[in-house]
Amino acid sequence: MKFHSSLFLILSLAAGSAFAARPGANASTDDILKLKGDPKNGEEVYEVCSACHLPDGMGRPDGSLPVVAGQHEKVLVKQMIDIRTGHRDNPTMYPFAQGMEPQDISDSAAYMARLKLKTTNGKGSGKDVKRGAELYKKDCLSCHKDNGVGDQAKFVPLLTAQHYEYTMRQMEEMQAGKRKNADKDMIKIIKAYSKADMQAVADYMSRLKPKK
Ligand code: HEC
Ligand code: HEC
Repeated sequence: MKFHSSLFLILSLAAGSAFAARPGANASTDDILKLKGDPKNGEEVYEVCSACHLPDGMGRPDGSLPVVAGQHEKVLVKQMIDIRTGHRDNPTMYPFAQGMEPQDISDSAAYMARLKLKTTNGKGSGKDVKRGAELYKKDCLSCHKDNGVGDQAKFVPLLTAQHYEYTMRQMEEMQAGKRKNADKDMIKIIKAYSKADMQAVADYMSRLKPKK
């Protein structure tokens, strides 16, 4: 972990100075979504990202880096904009999001969305999956849909086979008010959850398999 943190720091500092004050820094999610994403150029843009997110887009099972493979294009764009406008607390990723040209945001999202989602993700303890399924059905299904596929039109992320630890951390950050742009109704539901509730539902989602 020590090695990774220093690598992140070096990468972050390098990105910060190389990308400072680029044009298009104020582009909104809507602005970016007017562009057409080119996955071929996205592959090149993604090279610098793959140092953290890994070439296959599967991140790390310890949850420090999310699965981005197969995520909805629109969701990826919104999250990058939220990170760079400070709606998500994320100092490691911040300089990279900060420095990106609007077209590169669009292209890299198109590329990541086309990477294959695998089931090598980190899972929970397996102890409370049945209760997790019940909670999911009651509280999450209406938006995140059957099998966790989400709803691209409404910016609802795919949660299928996401790392358990990442999902836990996101819910904890929602409870702490650190994802300021997330759905208000969802935040209300998750704020009322105990740690055991979150563990159960995160474990259930981490074990969903992509249907293809
Ligand atoms: C120094 C490491 C690092 C680099 C380089 C990096 N990221 Fe990230 N990225 C992160 C971390 C850490 C997170 C998770 C943030 C969190 O936990 O809130 C993240 C989150 C994201 C997300 C949100 C995913 C989601 O499911 O909500 C997207 C999209 C993303 N990164 C895209 C990129 C792109 C595109 C690049 C290259 C231009 C890039 N990242 C470069 C560390 C990095
Ligand atoms: C009213 C609709 C709605 C409901 C209900 C809902 N969500 Fe969400 N969820 C969203 C939206 C929209 C986002 C994207 C938030 C953003 O843009 O930051 C999201 C994002 C998330 C994320 C972050 C994913 C990522 O890649 O960073 C997690 C984790 C999550 N939801 C879990 C849950 C769980 C667990 C439940 C049930 C307890 C739930 N949600 C209920 C709409 C909903």
